[in-house]
Amino acid sequence: IAVDPFDMVVFGATGDLAARKLMPALFRRDLAGQIPPEARIIGVSRSRLSREEFAGKVGGWLAEFVSEPEREPACVQRFLTRISYVPLDAAGEDGWDELARLLGEAQDRVRAFYLAVAPDLFGPICERIGKYALVTPLARVVVEKPVGKSGETARVVNDAVGAVFDESQIFRIDHYLGKETVQNLMALRFANALFEPLWNAGHVDHVQITVAETLGVAGRAGYYDNSGALRDMVQNHMLQLLCLVAMEPPTSLEADAVRDEKLKVLRALKPIREGNADQATVRGQYKAGASPDGAAPGYLEELGKPESQTETFVALRAEVQNWRWAGVPFYLRTGKRLATRVSEIVVAFRPVPYSIFGATAGPVMSNHLVIRLQPDEGVKLWLMIKDPGPGGMRLQHVPLDMSFANSFSARAPEAYERLLMDVVRGSQTLFMRRDEVEAAWAWIDPIREAWTNSEQPPRPYTAGTWGPSAAVALIERDGRSWHDDG
Ligand code: BG6
Repeated sequence: IAVDPFDMVVFGATGDLAARKLMPALFRRDLAGQIPPEARIIGVSRSRLSREEFAGKVGGWLAEFVSEPEREPACVQRFLTRISYVPLDAAGEDGWDELARLLGEAQDRVRAFYLAVAPDLFGPICERIGKYALVTPLARVVVEKPVGKSGETARVVNDAVGAVFDESQIFRIDHYLGKETVQNLMALRFANALFEPLWNAGHVDHVQITVAETLGVAGRAGYYDNSGALRDMVQNHMLQLLCLVAMEPPTSLEADAVRDEKLKVLRALKPIREGNADQATVRGQYKAGASPDGAAPGYLEELGKPESQTETFVALRAEVQNWRWAGVPFYLRTGKRLATRVSEIVVAFRPVPYSIFGATAGPVMSNHLVIRLQPDEGVKLWLMIKDPGPGGMRLQHVPLDMSFANSFSARAPEAYERLLMDVVRGSQTLFMRRDEVEAAWAWIDPIREAWTNSEQPPRPYTAGTWGPSAAVALIERDGRSWHDDG
């Protein structure tokens, strides 16, 4: 179903995000018939380009980032006619009158400002959006992460954006929330009667959340070195996943109903600070090693500096202090240049209280529910089954395996496709509210501080491995191990 007519103004229109994600996502939605004929996509950046030159660039990006069968020439042509361009100085005055003229006076048309720019420009851009009177009743602003670098800086950014837009108009993107399988977590939990009665400390032994990447930081080392894995991945994507696993059932899918529940989880996280950070966290940095494409350089080589304390890997043990989760550890790990690219959530249930099978049957392993976010999206429930055959009662750990690719023929839309259309529709359920972002920082900041004051630098690990051995020790100390889907 087509959304209402809209103008989408993309700040940072010649940047990487616009090229790789935003334009391909808008194109795919257009291809699917969701974008009405009157919609306009207005690129804005410092580069002095004509409309035709910018449309030419967009055509090039589509050729690079959208696969051949999807790229029907007639659709590409139609999409490119929707594109306009305004050269503009985001922190100055040049170009703003032209943008205002192009947008016109219409009050009844959705107008979205997408800030795909460095966060220090959020404030200046919003100020000018206000000053040039571009905020209409149906205006929205989309803010990319990171929202700040700490609780304090996040408040500054939120104040600057909030001075011009109402909270109901602010869409803080965490693209993990747009991933199909992440939304599926809500379906799995709340559309099935089977799991929820077991979804608590009485039956769940622990939870693991892994987001492993094989890529390094080449190309964005400048940004990354000021951020590190804790800010880049844990503060947002990992904590959002944790919230969706741990939250109480919201009363509906309405934005604030879901966000209220996530906020309670963030506020219930047991603080990790100087006294317990050594026990509860591990940080690492990759050295030269292997990647799927061959030899991989170390982080410092990619960065081009002799020294850096920035972590490219984090493992930590979190706890949610409430009735449902008391005593259940949530083990989180994420890193660059790890052994494989995999993101998954593992809910490990408690073992049976007593085995009637005896030693010859083999160990009775506990049930694991594995929600695979990427690649090979799907859900696996690991069960104990009798090994078929006449050899007596021998047990095997085998998955009930629901792979999305085998079960559904439709292509899973990319996160940005869903999220961009939600912006136009005005649906904030999959976007972060101000208090959520600030609560996440309130938990992250003391970890950062403890690391800064610690004598222990990030532990080295070889590119192409599963991170520092201390990350294995972190979970094995508790008598558990990282799930291996074999
Ligand atoms: C981004 C991080 O938010 O997420 C990147 O800044 C990371 O460092 C990326 O690579 C991972 O996203 P995805 O969708 O590829 O898992």
